[in-house]
Amino acid sequence: MVELTKTGIDGLDEILNGGIVSHSTTLLSGPPGAGKSILGLQYIYNGIEQFDEPGVYLSFEEDTTDLREAAESLGFDNWQHHVDAGDIKIYDKQVLLREHDFNASLEILLEELDNNDYRRLVLDSLSMFGLFFDEERERRTYLLKFLDILGENGLTSLMTTEQEAGYPEKDINMENFLTDGNIYLLQTPTESGVNRYIWVAKMRKKNVQTDIFPMEIDTGGITVYENASAFSMLNEDDSPL
Ligand SMILES: Nc1ncnc2c1ncn2[C@@H]1O[C@H](COP(=O)(O)OP(=O)(O)OP(=O)(O)O)[C@@H](O)[C@H]1O
Ligand SMILES: [Mg+2]
Repeated sequence: MVELTKTGIDGLDEILNGGIVSHSTTLLSGPPGAGKSILGLQYIYNGIEQFDEPGVYLSFEEDTTDLREAAESLGFDNWQHHVDAGDIKIYDKQVLLREHDFNASLEILLEELDNNDYRRLVLDSLSMFGLFFDEERERRTYLLKFLDILGENGLTSLMTTEQEAGYPEKDINMENFLTDGNIYLLQTPTESGVNRYIWVAKMRKKNVQTDIFPMEIDTGGITVYENASAFSMLNEDDSPL
């Protein structure tokens, strides 16, 4: 039996047939505003609230205050309490770039992961992380090393990236192959706002439901509608891809 880590997100664990494979890394892709950071926040928050699993949030995009405000706007009222207690550890841009050499910061981070009992990690975003390397080859080598260390330390990780979902004829980035799972968030504009969808395209070692499911973002965070007919706004000629 493969060990699973539940996201605690309504509907998502169901379409994952129980959760994400533990000690693996999943790439979470989608365009701006699709909900990647929110899914990451919710994964870390639920981890400690529901499953007693401490987590790390690495943010190159938002700082600690932005994250707190985003979490509280979603009704994650105990966010700051968990941060203060050390059960949610945030490394934001300022912290990650404190050393003059990015590699030195990463070494410190990896050591901290080694010395603590974190179970979940979010890297937001892998696109930004990549910008710190001059050469593609160096970036790839480092990413592989990083993925290994995360798994060895028992962490189940999500990494966000800004790529959009595409069919195989479009270019698929190397990150999609290096990671164990691929989840895409999609959105289509409507007259009154936006329709949101989620697609679990791959989960190594695991059978998942690979249909595209509707989802919503509201107070409480993301809800995935496993039964598409329950999603009243869905209409037929409105393909998410
Ligand atoms: N408290 C909230 N209630 C309802 N919807 C919200 C709330 N907070 C954010 N949203 C919606 O979620 C969207 C942003 O999601 P998120 O920040 O996770 O996107 P993202 O995929 O990380 O985007 P980016 O690539 O720009 O970082 C917003 O555009 C907004 O529509
Ligand atoms: Mg974001």
